[in-house]
Amino acid sequence: MKLLNYKVINKKNKKIYIESYGCQMNFSDSEIITSIMKKNGFKIISEKYDRADIIFINICSIRDKAEQIIKKRLEKFKILKKKNKKLIIGILGCVTKKLKQKLLKKKIINLIINPNSYRILPFLIQKINYKNKLFNISLLKKETYSNVNPVKLNSNGINALISIMRGCDNICSFCIIPFTRGRERSRNPYSIIKESVKLFKKGYREITLLGQNVDSYKWEDLNQKINFSNLLSMLANINLNLRIRFLTSHPKDINKDVLYTIKKYENICNHIHLPIQSGNNRILKLMNRTYDREWYINKIIEIKYILSNNCSISSDIITGFCSETEKEHKDTLLLMDYIKYNFSYIFYYSERPGTLAEKKYKDNVPLLVKKKRLQEIINKQKILSLESNKKDLFKIYKVLIEGYSKKSKKYLKGKNSQNKIIVFPKKQYKKGEYINILIKDYNNSTLFGITF
Ligand code: 5AD
Ligand code: SF4
Repeated sequence: MKLLNYKVINKKNKKIYIESYGCQMNFSDSEIITSIMKKNGFKIISEKYDRADIIFINICSIRDKAEQIIKKRLEKFKILKKKNKKLIIGILGCVTKKLKQKLLKKKIINLIINPNSYRILPFLIQKINYKNKLFNISLLKKETYSNVNPVKLNSNGINALISIMRGCDNICSFCIIPFTRGRERSRNPYSIIKESVKLFKKGYREITLLGQNVDSYKWEDLNQKINFSNLLSMLANINLNLRIRFLTSHPKDINKDVLYTIKKYENICNHIHLPIQSGNNRILKLMNRTYDREWYINKIIEIKYILSNNCSISSDIITGFCSETEKEHKDTLLLMDYIKYNFSYIFYYSERPGTLAEKKYKDNVPLLVKKKRLQEIINKQKILSLESNKKDLFKIYKVLIEGYSKKSKKYLKGKNSQNKIIVFPKKQYKKGEYINILIKDYNNSTLFGITF
């Protein structure tokens, strides 16, 4: 633990450029890394990486693109390294455990660090001697970065990500996360509140609480036990103008307490990301998801009963998991029709080394079939999103303004509680304000409206 207070002397004012790839958790981690490095006297630059002394690639391993991305980026940075032999290149993130052997072979890399060891980054950088690689991929089990106040990167000043827990205790057979990020541990709630209050005072109006499995958040000391619904209430009470979102819920863990807490507070958003992964019971069993289709449907009925249709539901879906038949794939399409997801993230299965699925099952659905099924699910989701948006016609929504619309500065965009993007004429309105919008038009990704 002595290392944590280590003062960096030699590397003061060195410029760091960080690139982030992968999930939101990884982007949130880049903010933690930035904060740690800044505190230790490093400068963070967001453009012109050719001026950097240190380049970090922070990358997640959950799906299969990581290796190709690293290869491509290293080819770019090779040119810089030829000009500047002292340039430090580090690979960070959960990819480091999975790719350790391959990364160790690459001469250009100086540093390989897993997501639980960012506190010692400033110290490790000081130790680099350009001959040997430094790496740390062992998991410091308790790390939650509680007292690190993350620096917001690429921020619009309105929406912020806050990581509330790390790791995962579920062992979905396709997933590498439990092996790369370690066991579940929850962050001190008071540090979460402190960070949220600070962000609110700076003008932020929406926080998204991040965790692999937010509903199993639990923290205790001698005097109290705090679960996820307690945490939600504490955060909702900071200010009515601070919206709270959260990601991701596991269907087996989201409970009535959480649903009633969402109902109680207007500023806790009516949107639940509840990944189904597959609509077929045999596949769900192989995936080790611990629920079946009927159980999941009952959960949705419970959500709709407590929160009404007002609550939007989104999902993650994997196509072409080991031995999935055409009929089993059709079950997923049928389930989507039944649930009517507002939105889904859809992936085709890619085997990850070390997972249960890699050890027990054959990855035997041909890539072309996986991709064909992926396209069918994407097409289905487009239809469902369009139908869902059509139902919003002539409704009035309270929108938090996030900035200009992508296409024109004459329009602003924001989101409603259900996480739908709404575009409307700018007039005198500014980002950070809440405004009521009447919906006049839609497509499958956006609602268009007017003020009145
Ligand atoms: N192949 C494809 N998709 C995966 N996911 C996780 N592991 C894999 C994999 N091996 C998807 C799941 C998860 C989301 C974050 O990534 O749908 O919910
Ligand atoms: Fe992976 Fe399953 Fe944990 Fe999500 S719940 S991170 S899919 S093991």
